[in-house]
Amino acid sequence: MSATPKKLRVPDLALMKEVGERIVMLTAYDATMSRLFDRAGIDLLLVGDSLGNVILGLETTIPVSLEAIIHHTRAVTRGATRALIVADMPFMTYQISAEQAMQNAARLFQEGGAAAVKLEGGRSVAEVVRKLTAAGLPVMGHVGLTPQHVHQLGGMRQQARNDKAAQELILDALALEDAGVFALVLEAIPDAVAEAVTARLKIPTIGIGAGPHCDGQVLVSYDVLGLFDEFVPPFVKQYARLGELIRRAAENYANEVRHGVFPQTATGRGASVTEGSAGVVRLLERVAQGLPDRGIHRNKYPH
Ligand code: KIV
Repeated sequence: MSATPKKLRVPDLALMKEVGERIVMLTAYDATMSRLFDRAGIDLLLVGDSLGNVILGLETTIPVSLEAIIHHTRAVTRGATRALIVADMPFMTYQISAEQAMQNAARLFQEGGAAAVKLEGGRSVAEVVRKLTAAGLPVMGHVGLTPQHVHQLGGMRQQARNDKAAQELILDALALEDAGVFALVLEAIPDAVAEAVTARLKIPTIGIGAGPHCDGQVLVSYDVLGLFDEFVPPFVKQYARLGELIRRAAENYANEVRHGVFPQTATGRGASVTEGSAGVVRLLERVAQGLPDRGIHRNKYPH
């Protein structure tokens, strides 16, 4: 469990870097998962535009709308009491003008209840970051592999692989820090580059596929839990195989319903398909006698 049991706030992250406490972040998209991650002591929950892939079944994050992120952020904020909630700014919601970025970011705070926003890009977005942070909106940066630039990058591949690209990335990171980001996601870059960036910045870095030298780590929760197996990035560690568990549970349920094993009758026996109408008659008799229905809604209304 984290050394910081109280509700996490943006300034706490700088303190965590100072004392060498690693920051733990996962993506979350709904209230139930958010509650579970919050109880597990995850420090930051990111309502990532990866919801386009894992929730909406899209190929890329590009079609994800601001409305979708607001909708899911609202759910995630309801589930968490301690974790800091960061909402992704979707593609083209912050690039057109600083005014557009300000209006869209404000909606994530006001309607979604986010405590911070994240946006992708380096020096090209530094001025927007400066304006947002000057207005009191905390911003997390994101450089390296930035999935909203997938077409320009030519695919989801590791970035900063040569000296020149690594230098450019370091300049981006420094510009974002100067513009006021409170933390920086480093995605899919060589460990040594992530280490160099982390050493140069005062703000914490949060790595994903960027090795062990970052100040914290983030992963897509559906990858960590083994829920999404369309594509598992090579740097992901699956801590569970919930996809397999869910499939087996659904298969068991289907088999039991089809064979009349579920639901159980009041006597604890499974009803065969031909017994169905007899069960209804018994239920009606009980209702007529003013007796409670003992067979239905057992879980929802425990007796
Ligand atoms: O959208 C997302 O899930 C992200 C993380 C991968 C950092 O941006």
